[in-house]
Order: sequence, then structure tokens, then C-alpha cells
Amino acid sequence: MLKEVDMTTYRRVKIFDTTLRDGEQSPGMSMNLKEKIEMAKQLERLGVDIIEAGFAIASPGDFTSVKTIAETVKNVEVASLARATKGDIDRAWDAVKDAVNPRIHLFLATSPLHMQYKLEKEPDAVLEQAIEMTRYAKSLCPNIQFSAEDATRSEMDFLARVVEGTINAGATTINLPDTVGYTLPEEYYDFLVTIQEKVPSLANVDISTHCHNDLGLGVANSLAAVRAGASQVECTINGIGERAGNAALEEIAMGVHTRRDFYKAQTHIITTEIMRTSNMLTRITGVKVQPNKAIVGENAFAHESGIHQHGMLKNAETYEIMTPESVGLIESNLVLGKHSGKHAFRDRVQTLGFDITEEELAEAFEKFKILADKKKTVFDKDIEAIVSKESVQVPKTYKLKNFVINSGNHITSTAVIKMDKHDKEIEKVGIGDGPIDAAFKTIDKIVGQKLELDDYSIGSVTEGEDAQGDARVVLKTEDGNLYSGRGLSTDIVEASIMAYVNAINKLYYDEPN
Ligand code: KIV
Ligand code: ZN
Repeated sequence: MLKEVDMTTYRRVKIFDTTLRDGEQSPGMSMNLKEKIEMAKQLERLGVDIIEAGFAIASPGDFTSVKTIAETVKNVEVASLARATKGDIDRAWDAVKDAVNPRIHLFLATSPLHMQYKLEKEPDAVLEQAIEMTRYAKSLCPNIQFSAEDATRSEMDFLARVVEGTINAGATTINLPDTVGYTLPEEYYDFLVTIQEKVPSLANVDISTHCHNDLGLGVANSLAAVRAGASQVECTINGIGERAGNAALEEIAMGVHTRRDFYKAQTHIITTEIMRTSNMLTRITGVKVQPNKAIVGENAFAHESGIHQHGMLKNAETYEIMTPESVGLIESNLVLGKHSGKHAFRDRVQTLGFDITEEELAEAFEKFKILADKKKTVFDKDIEAIVSKESVQVPKTYKLKNFVINSGNHITSTAVIKMDKHDKEIEKVGIGDGPIDAAFKTIDKIVGQKLELDDYSIGSVTEGEDAQGDARVVLKTEDGNLYSGRGLSTDIVEASIMAYVNAINKLYYDEPN
């Protein structure tokens, strides 16, 4: 099925990842600084060309994360978003200027609706602002991306004037987003062909596509754009993003790769890193992808039907257009047991692609030993779960020491929990509707504030009776900020308590008091 092709003749399509900006700004997806850095390092390993690290002016936290990512990653361009104003552009430049390869991404809406109701400006004033601000940004940074927000609902001749003007002012990438997910693949293809005819200088810059998924067409529209000549695709891991999300990176990368015979194009994505990146985002945010999601869903490579299985046994290509290995899906192996030493553990962690400090390794090893004592078989997935959790830990303001839960179907559940806060022991007793509720209410007493439980779920890392429980808790503060926490244990009550404490520690990391 995968035809052998001469890749040297294929044009390059750049992947602009906006997981940490458009993705992160959607509900339930917020990440703290450590988590963003971890994601950025993984995106670099995945081979994306540009990381949009955030919107520097949005908050001091956003500024710090863009700046830290800009200083951390080396083999990938780092962009910050900015509205087309001097204040935003200055802030974006301050955040990215120390990157090996910085980019300022400024945007201004060009559709009649946005100009009239959002900007309250006449088209000529918008054109002038776009040109003037692109020129200003260019005086600071060589790589300038201009986005005509709501491009697909803009009037073509006006859009062409904006595109031509901003290219003349120094833009090196022109992004024509489908901001509200309104366009259709054939229509977007025609739109991109027409704008290239109207603005010949588009041939000298990168043409970028940025598609939202409101009609479920984000990826289809992005691929139509590639066919129409786009040399950059903006997308997010697992398709996270505003409303129905952005086009999913993994689907675009595998779409272009699997059908390179059709697109005559290639990306530089290391496809075998796809699963790890998707899993990392799931672990950090706690938001799982649907099982039938293309490429990274649990069932994406599962063949249940007898007819399919029969065909697959004879020749995998009967029902498989790409291999699970090509996206980094490896069978869970039985790897280590309770007699395995630190050396073997380190080896396995490295083989799985983790790059963690000695201190993180030591903590992860301790957890592995405890797990290996409780669990008959320790799989790669268990190790991944432990290590990925260690590598994005925040300082432990609160540490769980021990707990006792008493629960049954005819009694009120009670919890006794002991925790350390900066080496001071605090113990409280509480009651609740079931063991988890009792535990969470008791922790609230220890912390001294009532936190709203926005979401709670429990799954398992692997299959089998002795599998580790993987709990996720999302807490909401009074000002609406969400903090997600994760806990792993073969005991699901302990996993839940650990997840709750992890979310609290993240809250304290962001808002120390
Ligand atoms: O959807 C959109 O138009 C955007 C721009 C800022 C590029 O996210
Ligand atoms: Zn967007």
C-alpha cells in the first residue's frame, strides 16, 4: 500500500504547532510552566518546525512560559502571538528574542463582521494598521507571520490588499485562517488558489493554513490547503483548541505521509514520536482522546471483526494503510520485575525516550520498586506513567503521609488523613458520601479552603486485576482557574487522594500563599 517514492523531489510542508497557545486556551487544557516546558521539549523531539509557545501579553504567566520555552528549545522556531499593536508586539518580542530562531505572529481581523463589530474600524484603517504593525514587528524580528483573522469570511479583494501590503511590509509567512470552522474543503482550495492568483508575491513567502473544527472539517480543510500550495500547516496535538478544536497534528502528519504520492509533499515530523506526544498531552491535561480517534485513539489500530482479522493475518495491507509502529505504537512489554536494579530501570526509561534528571530518576525508581512489589507484571505503560508524572512534578507543598478510610453501604464514610506541609504534620478527620468524597472533604479541611471539584475520573494504566489506577481530579478556584492533578496507585482510593493533592500542589505552585 505505501508506495516507495522519491522523497527528494517532494516539497516541504512546515508544521506550526499551536498546542501551547490555541490548544492551551481552551477549557480544561491549561498547563503550568513545567508542563509546558515538558510539552515543548517533546514537540521538538517530534520534529515540528515552529512552536507557538503562547500569547506573551495575555498574562505574566504566559510571558514567562513563552520566554522559558524560547530559551530552552534549540532546534525549532519559537513564536509568540500578538495583536497588531505596538504593546503586544513589544511583549511578544521580549518573550521570544532569546530563542535560536524567534518569530512574532501578529494577527488582525479582515472580515466585514469582525472589522465592524469587534474592531469597530473601517477597512482602510485595518489595512493601514496591518501594514504599519507588520513593518514595526519586522524592525525587531526577521521572521514575521501575519494572520488575517477570519480570512475565509473576508472579502477577497480587500484580503488581497492586506496580504500584498503585509508582504511588502516584511511578513515572511501569511496565514489565512478559517477562524470559525466555516469553510469547506473545495471552497478553501478555490479560495487559496484565487488569492495566489491575485497576489503573486505570495510565491515568495510561506502560505499558512489554520483551520478550526466546528464542522469537523479542520483536517480536511488543512489538507485541501496543502494541495492548493500551502507550505505551513497550523495544528495541535490531539486536535485540542477553541470550541471543537483545531486541526489535529497527528492526522495531518499521517495524512501527508501516507498519501505523499498524492500531495507530492512531506513534513519533517518524526512519526514514531506521535503516540508519545499524544499520551504526554493526555497525561498532563487528563483529557483523554475518544477511542475511535484517528491515529492516536485506543482503537485506531484494533481489528475486531473476524473478516478483518482473517485478511490481516494473510496480508496486513488488506485493512491497514499505515502500521501501528509508524506512529510509535509499541506493544506493551513485560520489562522489569521487583528484582530489577536501577541500572536496568534507567536503561528502560531511556529506551522509552525519556530524558529526566538523576533526581527525577531516583524518585521514579522508588515508585517503580513499590509498584513492582504490589504488581505481578510491570509493563512499559506503567513505567511511562510513573516517569512522565515525575518529570512534570511541581514542588510538593502538601505531602500525603497516610490515610484510613472507613466505608460501607450502610454507614457514613469517614476519612482520617495525615499530611505534611513544609515538614509540619497536619491530621484531620472528615465524613462524606462515599470514600472518595470523605477523603476529598478531609483534604479540604487540611488545606483550609473549600475547593470546587470540577471533574473526577479513574481509569487504569494497563489491563488486569492488579493494574494501576490512574485518577484525575480537576479543581476550580473561586476565580474560575482550573487545576488538574493525577495520581497513580494500585489502590484507587490512594490514586484519587494523590490526584487531589497533586492538583492542590499545582494550585499552590501558581498561587503561593
Ligand atoms: O483562529 C484564528 O484565527 C487564530 C489566529 C490568532 C491565527 O487563532
Ligand atoms: Zn485559532
